[in-house]
Amino acid sequence: MTFSLRTNLQMHAVVLDAFGGPESLTYRLQPRPKPGPGSLLVRVMAASVNPIDYKIRLNGAWTDIRPPAIIGADAAGVVEETGIGVTRFRKGDEVFYAAEISQMTPGTYAEYHVVPETLVAYKPGNLSFVEAASLPLAASTAWQALFERGHIEIGDTVLIHAGSGGVGSAAIQMAKAAGARVITTCRKSNVDLVVRLGADVAIDYRVENVVDAVRKIIGADSVDTILDTVGGPVFAQNLELVKPRGRILSITASETPLRRAYQKNIDLHLIRATRSGSLMEKIARMVGAGLLKPVVDSVYPIERTDEAHGRIETGGVRGKVVLSLESLSS
Ligand SMILES: NC(=O)c1ccc[n+]([C@@H]2O[C@H](COP(=O)([O-])OP(=O)(O)OC[C@H]3O[C@@H](n4cnc5c(N)ncnc54)[C@H](OP(=O)(O)O)[C@@H]3O)[C@@H](O)[C@H]2O)c1
Repeated sequence: MTFSLRTNLQMHAVVLDAFGGPESLTYRLQPRPKPGPGSLLVRVMAASVNPIDYKIRLNGAWTDIRPPAIIGADAAGVVEETGIGVTRFRKGDEVFYAAEISQMTPGTYAEYHVVPETLVAYKPGNLSFVEAASLPLAASTAWQALFERGHIEIGDTVLIHAGSGGVGSAAIQMAKAAGARVITTCRKSNVDLVVRLGADVAIDYRVENVVDAVRKIIGADSVDTILDTVGGPVFAQNLELVKPRGRILSITASETPLRRAYQKNIDLHLIRATRSGSLMEKIARMVGAGLLKPVVDSVYPIERTDEAHGRIETGGVRGKVVLSLESLSS
C-alpha cells in the first residue's frame, strides 16, 4: 500500500476493490464525506478489525455491500464537524462507537467517517484511541447476549466459548462482574489470558473433549447459560451441556437440528448485535469502574490493513487487532 498527499476534500482510506483475499484491500485517496442532519464527521484515530470485516471481504454478497466499498465497524476518534440538529456532541469531542455499514453508509477504515450521533458515546478518558476502538462491536455483542438476552445472575455457571477472542474476552469480564462462575474454552497458549480476565476454568478446546471436560468439572446438565461465539459443531456440544430450562446465546449462524433443545426445554437466543450510543455509554461506565479492560493483540498502521486481516484469519489472536490512523493526523 502506498502513501500520497491529500487535499482538504480528500481522505486516506482502505477500499475493498473486489471480494477476495487481503490483497483486495487498497489504501488510497477517497472523497472526504460531509455529515448530514443528526450526524457527526469523526476524524478516525483507530478502527478495529472484526470477523465480519473479513467475511464481507471474502464474499459479502449476502450483504448489500458491493466493491468498491469502505468497510469497518468500530471506531474511536475526534469529532471534526457536526451536522444540522446534532445536540450532544461538538467539534473536538473524543468518541467511540460501532457503526452500521451498508452500500450507502461506508465503514470506518478511513481517516474520516460519518456516523449518526445516536450511535456514539464519549470515549472513556482512561483509554487510548487504540484501546477504545477495540471495544465497540465485541463488547456490545457480549453485553447484549449476557445481560439483555441471557439475564445472567449472581452464582450462575456460564460457559463462554472462545474466551480469548474479541467477544469472548469482553464476555468473561462482564460475566465475572455480574457474579457468575465462568468456564471458557481457548487454545493452550491463551489460558493465561483468560484466567487473568477472570475465568474460573479454561478448557483447551484443541486437545480436550469440551463436553467431557465440562461434565467432569461440574457434572452433567449443569451449565445455566452458554455463550456460543463459534457455532458449527460447538452448537451441538452446547445442547449436551446446557441444563434443562437453561439458555444458549448464539451469535453465529448455525444449521443444527433443534430436537435436543426442545427436549431440554431451553431458551435459545440467536443474536445479531444492534449498535447504540446508550449501550456504548454503559460500556464506558464499566470501563470507568475498572470492570472491563480492553485486550489488544496487535496494532497495525492503516496502510497495513491487509496484514491485520491476515492476522485474525490465521487464529491464535489474544483479544483484538486494531488499525491505527494516528500518524495521519500528525
Ligand atoms: N451476531 C453478531 O452480532 C456478532 C457480533 C460480533 C461477532 N460475531 C461473530 O462471532 C464470532 C466471534 O467473534 P469475535 O469477534 O470474538 O472473533 P475473534 O476475535 O476472531 O475470536 C474468535 C475465536 O474463536 C476461537 N475458536 C475457533 N474455533 C474454536 C472452537 N472450536 N472452540 C473454541 N474457540 C474457538 C479462536 O481461538 P484460537 O484462534 O486462539 O484457537 C478465536 O480466538 C465471529 O464469527 C463473528 O463474526 C457475531
